[in-house]
Amino acid sequence: MSVHIGAEKGAIAESVLMPGDPLRARFIAENFLDDPVCYNEVRGMSGYTGSYKGKKISVQGSGMGQASLAIYTNELIDEYGVKNLIRVGSCGSYHKDIHVRDLIIAMSASTDSAMNKDRFNGHFFAPTADYGLFKAMIDTAEQLKMPFHAGNILATDTFYQDDREGWKKWAKFGVLGVEMESAALYTIAAGLGARALTVCTVSDNLATEEFTSSEEREKSFTEMMILALETILSFQ
Ligand code: HPA
Repeated sequence: MSVHIGAEKGAIAESVLMPGDPLRARFIAENFLDDPVCYNEVRGMSGYTGSYKGKKISVQGSGMGQASLAIYTNELIDEYGVKNLIRVGSCGSYHKDIHVRDLIIAMSASTDSAMNKDRFNGHFFAPTADYGLFKAMIDTAEQLKMPFHAGNILATDTFYQDDREGWKKWAKFGVLGVEMESAALYTIAAGLGARALTVCTVSDNLATEEFTSSEEREKSFTEMMILALETILSFQ
């Protein structure tokens, strides 16, 4: 058991999918994994281990935001020996031509968080996806004929920004979209010697003010799940 995860050692697989929403973790376990076993219910942050096409895989909710994700990421790697973490989340798009339901695979994650400023004594670390996992996902998406965008995203600490136009600066510098977790995920994994990657389904578009219905979110989420699971199968 770790501080926030009530699992026995060995109960969590080497490869873990991390949705923000713990109910999504349960959905993935119940719909995609064979023989899923719930290993954690502490704080309602569900975690399951099962198998996908014979490979042992876990799914762990991360909660919203970098502070919450950082706790689970640290404990998964440090206390349970997790090696590969794929965040499967949602994000907002910053561009007219990146539509709702599209997939964004995050090569890198910029951030407005002070987390890394403190960690690197005021210097600037560039949170980057693991290249092996990234390449495996790109190859898998191409094989499955799933269109995607790949590039830099913003991990913000503030969902409701005071400056409603502030996102345009990030968009001008080529940032594809915004979520709230990946800079911490990439940084912590790098520091602890694990591999990390984020794939997001676009749930809203700040440029066109388009939104997805919950039904649309569910369908595109399913495609993203298959992409993440098949990536893990193809990896190594
Ligand atoms: N902002 C931050 N995080 C998000 C958004 C957004 O617009 N959409 C989905 N996750």
